[in-house]
Amino acid sequence: MKPTNGTSLSLAELRNDIVGIDTKVPLLDGTERRYVFLDNAASTPAFRSVLKCVEDFLPWYSSVHRGTGFKAVVATNVYDQSHRIAGAFVGANPALNVVMFGKNTTECANKLANRFELKPDDVVVATAMEHHSNDLPWRKHCKVIHVGINTDGGVNLQELKDALATHKGKVKLVAVSGASNVTGICSPIHDIAQWAHDAGAKIFVDAAQLAPHRPINILPNNDPRHIDFLAYSAHKMYAPFGIGVLIGPTEFFEKGAPDMVGGGTVSYVGLEEVEWGAPPQKDEAGTPNVVGAVALAEALTVLGAVGMETIAQHEQELLEYTIPKMKKIPGVHVYGPTEDFSSKVGVVPFTVDGLDHALVATILSVEGGIGVRNGNFCAQPYMRKLLGVTPEEERANRADRCDNPVIPGMVRASFGCYTNTEDVDIFLATLEMIARKQYKGTYTADPITGMYVAKGHRMNAAQHFRFFNPLETTPHGEEVA
Ligand SMILES: Cc1ncc(COP(=O)(O)O)c(C=O)c1O
Repeated sequence: MKPTNGTSLSLAELRNDIVGIDTKVPLLDGTERRYVFLDNAASTPAFRSVLKCVEDFLPWYSSVHRGTGFKAVVATNVYDQSHRIAGAFVGANPALNVVMFGKNTTECANKLANRFELKPDDVVVATAMEHHSNDLPWRKHCKVIHVGINTDGGVNLQELKDALATHKGKVKLVAVSGASNVTGICSPIHDIAQWAHDAGAKIFVDAAQLAPHRPINILPNNDPRHIDFLAYSAHKMYAPFGIGVLIGPTEFFEKGAPDMVGGGTVSYVGLEEVEWGAPPQKDEAGTPNVVGAVALAEALTVLGAVGMETIAQHEQELLEYTIPKMKKIPGVHVYGPTEDFSSKVGVVPFTVDGLDHALVATILSVEGGIGVRNGNFCAQPYMRKLLGVTPEEERANRADRCDNPVIPGMVRASFGCYTNTEDVDIFLATLEMIARKQYKGTYTADPITGMYVAKGHRMNAAQHFRFFNPLETTPHGEEVA
């Protein structure tokens, strides 16, 4: 299956396009089960089309922008076009915006923060919902105001407007996630853009969690609701080959020095003097990840062939199917919106009464063959707010960390565009069994990491990879002889 622009693909075809959709994993009872992957918010599997495209490209692989050989020309054309495709996916006008690649959203946010030339008393308005990757890069450079969270888990928009008014003149940027990786809640990014612009600031949208789930249009650059800067990651979009995308106005990136310097960034180097080249090459120091770029371009082409509206609708239906059933399981608590899913992507955080989140996630894996995530999802302030952890409890937990590996957290089930109700049914049945405390295994927590090991569960990764040394295994299962 290799859709090109203009062809269409159904959701069922999309599911067949997932590498490893039928992979079987060992369960505690000695049987095997098809792996149900519900950790798509972390990283998605690859599309088969992407894998095939990478294979098709590799005979043409060459480093880009420097060679004159035929393969260098092919690779350069494909690499440059992948920038255009990554921008078009979110409606960026190539005449006014530049698309550059880093290795992921984190690197792109850091790059932008380094390029912004912020002064210590400048202000970035962020929210208490942010992933650490859209918070810590700004804290390095200036004052960050964290707008609070409503009881439903959404950003307090009035507080955001107040912060813009209070710090008007000082606010250089509003940095918000398009969708939370904890609750899936989407913020009204175009409204926020308008308020930011009215206050003389720009907006950066961390779209790591929005781009895989919803159509995005950054709008024309002269529209007051335009998104100035936006980043997303290919590994959350079925192309896990190490690419992140950063988009912003060309005139912004034309100014100043690149954050990372070296080969490819310059037009002139003398022993005393350097002239920087034009973006995006100026901001992509060294030999770029050409294979990753090709993979991303193909993944975006596949997603475009299905249609992001179709994917959004499908994921909404999955939420409507899943969350009411979860709410009916005694002892299970779902966080974030539980009735209206119109502003929420397919990310479902929950806890189970009386059971540590790490234990629940381990049982889902070893007794259900289900892959989820547990912990704080790189959003510690948001997690503590959702769980109602008081500052005193927070302090006690930090001091106690060596003796008590249980940190406040949740379990997160997250959907991909290929997830179906069969996956959800397996998840719900296993969760119900866990909530009833009818799990079979004997589990012990590692006193340092807090991760659980199931007695008798064997995870023999050595059988899959010839380089793998079983003696260096991590504590996800008992050691394999
Ligand atoms: C909302 C959000 N922002 C940023 C990131 C960081 O993305 P990456 O790990 O690709 O840098 C993630 C990853 O989970 C995320 O969900």
